[in-house]
Amino acid sequence: MKGLIAPHGGKLVNRIADDKRKAELIKEAEGLKSITLSAKQSCDCEMIGIGAFSPLTGFMGKADFNSVIDSMKLSDGNAWPIPITLAVNAADAPKVGDRVALKAPNGVLQAVMTVEEVYPHDREKEATIFFNKPGDDDGQHPGAEAVKKEGDTCVAGPIEVVTVCVDPDGPEAFLDYRLTPAQTRAAFEAKGWKTIAAFQTRNPIHRAHEYLCKCAQEICDGLLIHPLVGETKPGDIPASTRMDCYKVLIDNYFVAERTLLTVMPAAMRYAGPREAVLHALIRKNYGITHFIVGRDHAGVGSYYGTYDAQNIFDELDADNVEIEPLKFEHAAFSKKAQGMVSGKTFPKIEGDQVFLSGTKVRDMLAKGERPPGEFTRPEVADILIAWATKG
Ligand code: ADX
Repeated sequence: MKGLIAPHGGKLVNRIADDKRKAELIKEAEGLKSITLSAKQSCDCEMIGIGAFSPLTGFMGKADFNSVIDSMKLSDGNAWPIPITLAVNAADAPKVGDRVALKAPNGVLQAVMTVEEVYPHDREKEATIFFNKPGDDDGQHPGAEAVKKEGDTCVAGPIEVVTVCVDPDGPEAFLDYRLTPAQTRAAFEAKGWKTIAAFQTRNPIHRAHEYLCKCAQEICDGLLIHPLVGETKPGDIPASTRMDCYKVLIDNYFVAERTLLTVMPAAMRYAGPREAVLHALIRKNYGITHFIVGRDHAGVGSYYGTYDAQNIFDELDADNVEIEPLKFEHAAFSKKAQGMVSGKTFPKIEGDQVFLSGTKVRDMLAKGERPPGEFTRPEVADILIAWATKG
């Protein structure tokens, strides 16, 4: 019998120390120089540790950094679209051969690293991954600006993770839902699912999102609703509020036996097409076979074309990427069709589709008004109203 899809690079990485090793590392770390990770680096550390970034076993060295930016590949030839770096200020950089303690932003010992390489962080070069062409950089892109503010020196090498979830009592720990790739794979085996679609999201699930999920469920054995709960930009809806929305939606509008909700502890980069590829490869590691890519996936502002994040998959070696992108056109409720449609399924009629801008939705929620049911389910709207109107 054919098993689940193989992880990216062939082997599921596990850099989480077992209890015995963990005790040794905690003791060792007392005598080590430490680096305090940023929120993004802390997310990356967890993603590496649990194998979600397989085949990475640590933060990237220079050859991978350049190869990823120049050709969307790791130096071993596997597809990879975004550098995963540990950037620090030169003054804080350890030396090659050092062992260093990696502390989460809250001071918790997250991992111990063996430093194999220290190299200048070409931030200008890394920032180019966020743009289709150089002239597009207007100094406002949240992902690119974050990279430009990072340290000037990259520290690379394998890590051993001591603490997987660094804030287990915090509102965004979601311990019951924080399944590792090994755990989602086991869950799929137990359910007997062979084809599984994943839905990446950093927003509440509105009707359009729900439509994509339902279409994917018609094609695949199961659906993993897999919200990103790592660092997002100010202004995005907090993960804890979103989780309440996902749960109420699944309870009321999805078939429990065909739907799984777990979280992905990655940071959002807003890198549009390249991030869509990263999101897909991560899901391959979680055991997913089909990945939903809709309009302007992982986009921000107007830096990307509506379907750039779909078209980029055509540039990649499909045999290496393996996971099947499920490409969806812009979807919305049609008053004439009395249902969700896209440009692929229903003729475009002026004024027919229920469209609300993000600003309009926020205004309504802040006033305690439910957006129309054609846009958001009432149960979801009520959770968002409670969030938007709390003092
Ligand atoms: S994202 O940053 O995770 O891409 P979001 O949570 O808004 O943001 O989107 C989740 C997924 O739904 C993405 O694949 C996105 O392209 C898709 N999507 C969002 N809205 C629509 C829509 N109206 N029509 C088609 N696809 C959509």
